Amino acid sequence: TIVDKGNHRHFMAKEIHEQPEVVSHTLTSFIDMVGETIRLPEDLPFDWKDLNRLTISACGTASFASMIAKYWFERYARLPVEVDIASEFRYREAPLDKGGLSIFVSQSGETADTLAALRYCKEQGQHTLAVVNVPTSTIAREAEVMVRTLAGPEIGVASTKAFTCQLAALAGLAIGAGKARGTLSAAEESELVHALIEAPRLMAEALRLEHEIETFSRDLAKASDVLYLGRGTSYPLSLEGALKLKEISYIHAEGYAAGELKHGPIALIDETMPVVVIAPFDAIFEKTVSNMQEVAARGGRIILITDAKGAEAAAMATLKTIVLPEMPAVVTPIVYSVPIQLLAYHTAVIIGTDVDQPRNLAKSVTVE
Ligand code: G6P
Repeated sequence: TIVDKGNHRHFMAKEIHEQPEVVSHTLTSFIDMVGETIRLPEDLPFDWKDLNRLTISACGTASFASMIAKYWFERYARLPVEVDIASEFRYREAPLDKGGLSIFVSQSGETADTLAALRYCKEQGQHTLAVVNVPTSTIAREAEVMVRTLAGPEIGVASTKAFTCQLAALAGLAIGAGKARGTLSAAEESELVHALIEAPRLMAEALRLEHEIETFSRDLAKASDVLYLGRGTSYPLSLEGALKLKEISYIHAEGYAAGELKHGPIALIDETMPVVVIAPFDAIFEKTVSNMQEVAARGGRIILITDAKGAEAAAMATLKTIVLPEMPAVVTPIVYSVPIQLLAYHTAVIIGTDVDQPRNLAKSVTVE
């Protein structure tokens, strides 16, 4: 297949803008749109009810999608989850129950460490399920069960649409697992599914904030270090935000669980340090706001990504806000990815780096 940039300057821009469409495709592959229920892959070689634990291994951006999925599997399916960086997992000789389930998340399906982790789990008698974007890939072929993300070819080295499609697929699996394990009622299932169906529309709304986000990028482009903070599923998203920025703009960035601020990163904060805070107005919003006030008190320049209620509750003179629509918690990581990606993208464009082919990075790491 020949893929071009269309009207976009970079593949990354095109891929960011494609997200409402490809996330919608991915959702359609496992959601019954009429009944608003999850259709799990049929004839699974394991029973969700028998599982005591789930292991998820991945690298890079896919590992952050996996970390977000941990919150979902634990909340919706009451299934304890261990998420591991595949390069660590493969050499750790982790004890695994025979008949347990291991999930592998990979855009390319060819990442050497993720593949090695898959082979290790098979040797240990684990059932294996791969969430992959390339259905002909080695990981797709070697896993017992394949769940496809329908992102289409991703050309930009920095992953964007593959990530949000991974989130969509993993959310579907977690809700499906909850349904199978009886930890979600039919009403809860349909409420969650209904929320997922809304995700593409909400992403399209987030894309409309691009111009405003670009103005914030001018600030980031001048920084030498940027901190990203979040709690709950916004914590792995803060890791992904920092990864995106460093990959393509070469600005040093770190993601941190907001609650860890006092345990280290607060020492770095001064007037030159932008801090991106990811905080939808949810049950832990107040906690994040108090971390934000600690940042503001030390002169840190805050960009808050939130919704209208969050913006009102956090009102501070020094604050820059990106205000997204209000939405159910299950879709916030999917939708909040959009401003995170746009911030990194525009920062890199302002700096003038090679956005689609950043130095030293490869799209797929097939050797160790
Ligand atoms: C490389 C790419 C990343 C990707 C990671 C894992 O580092 O640059 O964008 O997240 O590999 O790749 P995978 O294909 O396994 O998802």
